[in-house]
Amino acid sequence: MSTWSPSSWREKPILQQPTYPDKANLDRVLAELKNYPPLVFAGEARSLKNQLANVANGNAFLLQGGDCAESFSEFHADNIRDSFKALMQMAVVMTYSGGVPVVKVGRMAGQFAKPRSSDTETFDGIELASYRGDIINGSEFTAKARIPDPERMIKAYNQASATQNLLRAFASGGLADLHQVHKWTLDFAHQGEVSKKYEKLAEDIERSLTFMEACGVNSKTHRTLRETDFFTSHEALLLPYEEAFTREDSITGDWYDTSAHMLWIGDRTRQLDGAHVEYLSGVKNPIGVKAGPTMDPDDLVRLANKLNPENEAGRLNVIVRMGAGKVGDGLPALIKAVEREGLKVVWSCDPMHGNTIKSSTNYKTRPVDSILTEMKEFFAVHKAEGTFGGGVHLEMTGKNVTECIGGSFTVTEEDLSSRYHTHCDPRLNADQALELAFLIADSLKDAQN
Ligand code: PEP
Ligand code: CO
Repeated sequence: MSTWSPSSWREKPILQQPTYPDKANLDRVLAELKNYPPLVFAGEARSLKNQLANVANGNAFLLQGGDCAESFSEFHADNIRDSFKALMQMAVVMTYSGGVPVVKVGRMAGQFAKPRSSDTETFDGIELASYRGDIINGSEFTAKARIPDPERMIKAYNQASATQNLLRAFASGGLADLHQVHKWTLDFAHQGEVSKKYEKLAEDIERSLTFMEACGVNSKTHRTLRETDFFTSHEALLLPYEEAFTREDSITGDWYDTSAHMLWIGDRTRQLDGAHVEYLSGVKNPIGVKAGPTMDPDDLVRLANKLNPENEAGRLNVIVRMGAGKVGDGLPALIKAVEREGLKVVWSCDPMHGNTIKSSTNYKTRPVDSILTEMKEFFAVHKAEGTFGGGVHLEMTGKNVTECIGGSFTVTEEDLSSRYHTHCDPRLNADQALELAFLIADSLKDAQN
């Protein structure tokens, strides 16, 4: 630990990085980013860590969600607002029906860099470098677009900054007021079972609020009715960018990655002696690590010891992404190892990344059924082990996209082409996400019994 510095990751083997052709330009951009204001403050990251400590102790639930990859072309206030509303709807369902506080973390305001399974992509016999997210190169299938351009980091910062600003305004400026519970419904929401269930819940909440108002409790007297805490997160993949935002907190003298409240390490870059683990071991933000089917229980223990040496509750989130049908094979051994060592972690379920398939119409998609199945398996394993499945990690949007198939308002394989907008992985639309929220609420109720 004593050898850690914001740049000590540079001495370690690193995967999934672009090679910038013009080093001088890269250095110039990084020097500029080092002077830019932080996007979040250390105190906020500490506040998230405290809330996540409640999750680790079984007294709150973590809802983390947003785009697979934010993009420059989809940058619009309406998209940010709709993702925010969809997350608020889900959170209120879980809080009201599940009976626990929900910690809200967006995969937003900085989720630009993507790990890829292959360095190149071939189409019509032409091989080009893979698209690595808008912060690195362009998604168009041309040689020029695929050249990594450091200037994109500046554009990504500016977009993250404007997004963060709007999210703060939504969280404290009135949109998150519980009295708005009806207004979080998205314009396109289908009048199906899930919408009806939500309308009923919103009416119940409004009745409770009227009762509380009569008792003298209202938005003016109680901040928690009027505002919410909404945090941001992204995968800490592009380390030169993260290093530029690593700042020393003037209050504690500790280092924080001020590009987001929470950062995570992807399933492809979690090598114990690799650069990504080195970097995140030294910043004090809450952090996550993805655990796919290849995660070895002893490696998870080693990772937890390296990433959370003080065994602080709320510091480390293990984001399990096994795939439907595989949770029972992989998760019990991970839980047993963590319990044996007395490690404090937040367990959350990413039911997205183990369930990606190619549709017969050649779209990358995810069946909502597999997503629901993986979630149920996750909660069942925790129940059997006597531990708390404390969170979900979702790729979703408030838009009416058709990227995942199924759901109670069924999206079919043929529908995929109609509104398939993602720049990377397929996302749940707002209806599908809300359906999931009701399922989670049921599991939370069940866990309390
Ligand atoms: C992601 O979260 O978008 C991702 C690539 O996940 P994983 O590292 O789990 O594959
Ligand atoms: Co993804």
